Amino acid sequence: MLHCLHKYGLLVVKNVPCKNSPPASAAFDPVDQSRLVSERVAPLMETFYGLLWDVVSLPDAENVAYTNVRLDLHQDLLYFESPPGIQLLHCQLNTVAGGEALFSDSFAQARHFRREYPDHYETLLRTPVAFHYRRLGRRRRFVRTTFEHDGLNEIERVNYSPPFMAPVEGLTFDEVQRFYEAFALWEQTVSDARWHHTRRYAKGDLIVFDNRRVLHARTAFESATGERHLRGSYLRLDDWRAAWRQHCGGTAAGGSDADDCPRSDWGWEDPTAESE
Ligand SMILES: [Fe+2]
Repeated sequence: MLHCLHKYGLLVVKNVPCKNSPPASAAFDPVDQSRLVSERVAPLMETFYGLLWDVVSLPDAENVAYTNVRLDLHQDLLYFESPPGIQLLHCQLNTVAGGEALFSDSFAQARHFRREYPDHYETLLRTPVAFHYRRLGRRRRFVRTTFEHDGLNEIERVNYSPPFMAPVEGLTFDEVQRFYEAFALWEQTVSDARWHHTRRYAKGDLIVFDNRRVLHARTAFESATGERHLRGSYLRLDDWRAAWRQHCGGTAAGGSDADDCPRSDWGWEDPTAESE
């Protein structure tokens, strides 16, 4: 499971038991089955949404996730200094029309974008973007660039969550223009359906994905046609990497202790490669 999650950034554990307990009980459910699976890897990461949180359609929702509208591709909680490393979504019930899940490998997309638009890629590598959250007395903000590199000049991070982007600041008029031109092209790449993996949640599916790499989305759904209930949780990036290192890294993978989740084998196939 850890190897698969490392390589593809996404996996599905099927038939994880669920009892569709009322959403309000999630935070107090000590034997939640998705929690039993995730805690074999690492302790859950608590945020202001709780240890476990329920994605259901609510009136007067505090977050757009708790409605029935479409959510475009994004990563969660980029306004935190340390956003979650792994996200788990456990389907408790899904009888509505719509609400399909979409995923894309932002690293593969970023490599493609770097090849196709090197100047625009460089602009997004250099331009700081603030991600912010201000609701219910909670105020969070953290500044990142859209792409980040490691010491070998390889892509180490992609940061993409347009609904939580603050207006760009401290740039000249020309820099702002260059940024939005580059960002619009990057959005085209992100939203190109050829890169997307689509899946309909089945009861008992536990979808596990790397929140720092794999973008996620959902299509709109019709609340009147049934019920849709996902139970979510997060793992910290440090804890997930430690678990990977312990079970798959070092001598277990034929590498050394210095291996820090090597990225050489990361990336879904490039769907545009045949036409190039
Ligand atoms: Fe999300």
